[in-house]
Amino acid sequence: MDKPVEVKVSPGSSLRGDIRSPLLPGDKSISHRAIVLGALANGDSVVENLLVAGVTRPLLAAVAALGVNWKLEGTKLRIQGVGMRGFKSPAVALDCGNSATTIRLLAGALAAAGVQATLDGTAGLRRRPMDRIVTPLQQMGVPIQAAPNHTAPLVLSARPAEQPLNGIEYTLPVASAQVKSCLLIAGLGAEGTLTIHEPGPSRDHTERMLSSMGAQVAVEGNTVRLTPPPDGLQPLNLVVPGDFSAAAFLIVAALITPGSEIMLRSIGLNPTRTGLLDVLLEMGADIVFSSREQNGEQVGDLRVRHSRLHGAEVSGDLVVRMIDEFPIFAVAAAFANSPTLVRNAEELRYKESDRISALCQELRSVGVEIEETPDGFRLPGKTPPSGGRADAHGDHRLAMSMAVAGLASQRPMHVTGAEMTGESFPGFLDALQKLGAYVATNGHSAAAHPPTA
Ligand code: S3P
Repeated sequence: MDKPVEVKVSPGSSLRGDIRSPLLPGDKSISHRAIVLGALANGDSVVENLLVAGVTRPLLAAVAALGVNWKLEGTKLRIQGVGMRGFKSPAVALDCGNSATTIRLLAGALAAAGVQATLDGTAGLRRRPMDRIVTPLQQMGVPIQAAPNHTAPLVLSARPAEQPLNGIEYTLPVASAQVKSCLLIAGLGAEGTLTIHEPGPSRDHTERMLSSMGAQVAVEGNTVRLTPPPDGLQPLNLVVPGDFSAAAFLIVAALITPGSEIMLRSIGLNPTRTGLLDVLLEMGADIVFSSREQNGEQVGDLRVRHSRLHGAEVSGDLVVRMIDEFPIFAVAAAFANSPTLVRNAEELRYKESDRISALCQELRSVGVEIEETPDGFRLPGKTPPSGGRADAHGDHRLAMSMAVAGLASQRPMHVTGAEMTGESFPGFLDALQKLGAYVATNGHSAAAHPPTA
């Protein structure tokens, strides 16, 4: 982990300019999948605009420990896939850092490959629930055990090649792309078809990537059926789109900061990810975009201008389509001129922090009226932050949301734990500065025109 960083964001500057790769990073979910599936493919994959950050470095180190060679030139990854059963059993436990996507996707890959390994990570990762993957993996015949409280470390035993996994039919208790993807990847080592039913439309990058690699993936509503390719996966050649979940911080930054107009280029606009865009448009946001297809994913440029926002109600499938965006959505809602209500979002309690409780606590501490409910929160609107001190709770998205709130608060916002931004959006503070924001880290102002106030 990087050394502790406190960032001070001051109001008073409008945001203007154009942000694109590499300042705006490649999509986190697609990057994770490209590393894991590239490692399992038959031969060499090339992945451009990979997210190289706190959440992907442990995954790259883990696949290297499994005997997979790769090379990074900037954000261009060349990875030499070893085939479905080509992993070597690692000598030590694989460290997944703070990334639940890493541990869950790797568990699927190790299950398919049939090698003995232990998966572990930070204290924060050890708090995340793992029974949601362990139960169905065991039903598939995977020799996997979690710690007694259903968390990491996860221990997988070796499985002989002549003993394929079972292609089961499984209904996920909660919509989760990590769980779905873990099972789909494990399903590559199964005999017969794997069928997964989901209660909601979680992100479908794994399905798209597996199809592009030659697997038979049939999607019907919220049901996915995978028939593993008999000869393994073909290698990838792809450009990762910009991360919509990273762009979301800049979108809301421009919407709440008077006088702003920004352009965000080549952002992933997969409909399973853009719930926030739909809600913001409904709230009156001035966002214009067009989209095109790139490697089986929708990608587009967005122009965002400062806007007067109304409140909104968010529940059901929309929650799944904007699952990572609630911290920054709450910031937008604090500036709205009418109430906002979020329901059916209890999954947020199992993220990098208990995002309902941490978010409400931090927003309240900087003057926003917000009430926590068991499955979400409500805000009356019209109570923008006054400024002050906020803490990231070890959560990258909370750190970035509180920093963005400072752009339009009455007084500066000091955010401790801002080093967490490096987990998923290493260029976050640089992007804000490039757009003209007043940002200082650990007491050193890097703004072109530091405010006097
Ligand atoms: C992710 C899925 C989501 C999301 C996470 C990334 C993925 O988690 O919150 O940031 O890449 O599959 P869940 O599947 O647990 O909802």
